[in-house]
Amino acid sequence: MTIRRTFLGAAVLAIFATTAGSALANKPLVMGFSQVGAESEWRTANTRSIKEAAKKEGIILKFADAQQKQENQVKAIRSFIAQRVDVIAFSPVVESGWDTVLREARNAKIPVILTDRAVNAADKTLYTTFIGSDFVEEGRRAGRWLVEHAKKTPQRTLNIVELQGTVGSAPALDRQKGFAEAIAGHPNLKIVRSQTGDFTRAKGKEVMEAFLKAQGKNINVLYAHNDDMAIGAIQAIEEAGLKPGKDIVIVSIDGVKGAFEAMMAGKLNVTVECSPLLGPQLMKVARDIKAGRPVPKRIVTEEGVFPAEVAAKEYPNRKY
Ligand code: AHR
Repeated sequence: MTIRRTFLGAAVLAIFATTAGSALANKPLVMGFSQVGAESEWRTANTRSIKEAAKKEGIILKFADAQQKQENQVKAIRSFIAQRVDVIAFSPVVESGWDTVLREARNAKIPVILTDRAVNAADKTLYTTFIGSDFVEEGRRAGRWLVEHAKKTPQRTLNIVELQGTVGSAPALDRQKGFAEAIAGHPNLKIVRSQTGDFTRAKGKEVMEAFLKAQGKNINVLYAHNDDMAIGAIQAIEEAGLKPGKDIVIVSIDGVKGAFEAMMAGKLNVTVECSPLLGPQLMKVARDIKAGRPVPKRIVTEEGVFPAEVAAKEYPNRKY
């Protein structure tokens, strides 16, 4: 009798455990995502890609827009920890100052995926993987294009003004570094002014106006760390009675549709691609992590360079 009862009890427990186990396995993955903001056409496309991919994959996305403020991102990450999400992903507005909150996530055993931008934490175990572009290489590509372009007028010194991205952000630091590296050893290419335009059109225009006021007509090249600032600067150049793309050669980064339209209108000379379409890769990696599959520490996005000459042909293929 006792033996029968024990057997029955064990069987009920086993059925309960299996049901609970499969219910757990079928439970949708929950991801907390802290986005930088909505500062550029690139960022809007990035947000869209993440939201669409989550929906397609049946992943519950808790999305928080930080409005370009690190403190908002820290708050969002803490709230994701409190909600016990399965995975936290975020695109850090600046590189430094993340160690404490990342340690809190680790203590809570919640894996963290960095997307688009990196952090400069010494302890690399604070995050599981980083998916995004090689920003230094993007800067080099922009610089190399200019070096080639300058070969057409070898005797001429070209004065360059640089519109930098958000101060302390990985793309601003790396794109500055890569560009400087590529033009080093070419004394006819001189950066005469460099200032942040915070990755926005409005700021790009404002800073370009200041550059034009300070330098007069002594600007030959504009290097903008993103297309939005270049587009803002184009307006400032036109308002100053100059021809963007001709009087001032413009090199920028991202490859958004707006940049292709500017190239087709002859107002921008080249854009170096930086893909915002990270959503599908992010969701796949999140699933792999959750399933305990190994993921690479660094996943680099593949990108190209688009000079004005190919803009019209490429435009119909652009996804952002
Ligand atoms: O981190 C990627 C950069 O951020 C993009 O180049 C820029 O447009 C965005 O705001």
